[in-house]
Amino acid sequence: MNYYVGIDIGGTKIATVVADKNFNILNKKRFLTAETKLPLKSIERIVENIDIQLKEMAITKEDILGIGISCGGPLNSREGVILSPPNLPGWDNVNIIEILKSSFNTKVYLQNDANACALAEWKLGAGKGFENLVFLTFGTGMGAGLILDNKLYCGKQDCAGEVGHIRLNTTGPVGFGKAGSFEGYCSGGGIVKLGEIFLKEELGKGYSGPLKEKYERGSIEAKDILTLAFEGEILSKKIIDESARRLGQGLSILIDILNPEAIVIGSIYSRCENLFKPIVDLILEKECIKQSLNGCKIVPAELSENVGDLAAIIVASGEY
Ligand code: BGC
Ligand code: NA
Repeated sequence: MNYYVGIDIGGTKIATVVADKNFNILNKKRFLTAETKLPLKSIERIVENIDIQLKEMAITKEDILGIGISCGGPLNSREGVILSPPNLPGWDNVNIIEILKSSFNTKVYLQNDANACALAEWKLGAGKGFENLVFLTFGTGMGAGLILDNKLYCGKQDCAGEVGHIRLNTTGPVGFGKAGSFEGYCSGGGIVKLGEIFLKEELGKGYSGPLKEKYERGSIEAKDILTLAFEGEILSKKIIDESARRLGQGLSILIDILNPEAIVIGSIYSRCENLFKPIVDLILEKECIKQSLNGCKIVPAELSENVGDLAAIIVASGEY
């Protein structure tokens, strides 16, 4: 009788999940975003998958309490329109709420992915009990979700927390079309671009380490650099140290502006905290107002792989 449906739309994968009203995920299906290039095809596939899931669970459309969509910005949450997210080429002005409402005849909510993950970590993960917190994605992209005085803060145009756009340096890896942006330094793609900048210089100086061959084949991934950094490979360490310094710089700006109780950092940071934390701590000591820093806990996200699913389900509940 009482189920929520969550849809997590990412640049790589699109997941649909069904949960009970206590947010326990009972059924999940996924497909690659690239399998359905046009947004309307993707939405058709989403609807098909949900129909299959309802059948598998022997429930009907009437049992759905609400549908929640979590998606990269920019978007318009009030009107339910996905505008033109950088990670979803071709998705321009897609009114996804309208289509899903007409298919399922229930409440449908749309929310920025970072905001949705902030809600999930706040209600169910590392952010439990805090009244003011910032969640940073630090995954494929860099975005923030802001919980201020126990409420999600979206801003006038749903663009609050688009921190990846902030420029931290006049040159550097490109994110959001901007050299030296926070997303340029601190995201999966950003770490690769940062690696390429370092490599160009080091190859000139005769570097012949493990990143060389991958670079020449054009196939470096962030996880290669992170793994090598863990193993102590010198160039990979240098790359991650620079990403960590920039993370510290970005965090200190957020701490100085918002004076939050906690900053919860997802994906790459939560998996590789040991690589980032010592440098982040040094930068924060140097950059932040002491009082703000002393009151702020910086913690890895807890919901790991499940965060996107739970995020979409919380959006479906409309409880925020
Ligand atoms: C988008 C944000 C999103 C973030 C994480 C950024 O590129 O602009 O809206 O929250 O990536 O996916
Ligand atoms: Na956001």
